[in-house]
Amino acid sequence: MEPKFWHDKWKSNQIGFHEEVFHPLLCRYWDALGIDTAATVFVPLCGKSKDMVWLRDRGHKVVGVELSEIAAQAFFDENNLPVECDQLGAFKRYRGGGYILLCGDVFDLTAAVLGRFAAVYDRAALIALPPGSRRSYIRHLQTLCRSGTLGLLITLSYPPDALSPPPFAVPVEEVEEIYANWCELTLLGMGAARVKGVAGSESVFGLCVR
Ligand SMILES: C[S@@+](CC[C@H](N)C(=O)[O-])C[C@H]1O[C@@H](n2cnc3c(N)ncnc32)[C@H](O)[C@@H]1O
Repeated sequence: MEPKFWHDKWKSNQIGFHEEVFHPLLCRYWDALGIDTAATVFVPLCGKSKDMVWLRDRGHKVVGVELSEIAAQAFFDENNLPVECDQLGAFKRYRGGGYILLCGDVFDLTAAVLGRFAAVYDRAALIALPPGSRRSYIRHLQTLCRSGTLGLLITLSYPPDALSPPPFAVPVEEVEEIYANWCELTLLGMGAARVKGVAGSESVFGLCVR
């Protein structure tokens, strides 16, 4: 999708993907990954996700990347967090309370900016990207992780042509294929999900970068 697509969604508050509650699969599976709470968690395409609060409550520092400044500002406002803003390379950086939200394009984030991350949480990031960007996103994500990085990935699948994406359906087999050469991937669970009113399924994977 073009950045304008997402900027327009945020401007018009059409953010049906945003949940006011912590994601149940995050709550259920994160602790089992055994991630050191000293690890900063990278949250690509973070929106204003409450899941970042859950991770911070666990003790992790959180770094999110998000195109929309509306989302970043709302995250700090809605969670009553102090925030300071400055420019960090290509990004407007919002920081406070153990969170850093970088406003800009995830593809502009290199390991030279904040180093490589030891933990990653992807809910609705992979599935927000069209099929043509998926592999570049995965190649890019690799450059931001270190060997031994642990994380959780939540994806969606639904019948072909059942709705107009995003979100894009990413079947389990495709997830396994695109992660296979750089991660140990474990399918932790699957469940029914409604996607824009359509019956689909949600899958949660644990990952460990080789
Ligand atoms: C489907 S939403 C998911 C948001 C969040 N992960 C959640 O669970 O609520 C995808 C988000 O990615 C942002 N986004 C899309 N493309 C991006 C890019 N190339 N770089 C950074 N953020 C992007 C959008 O603005 C949108 O907020």
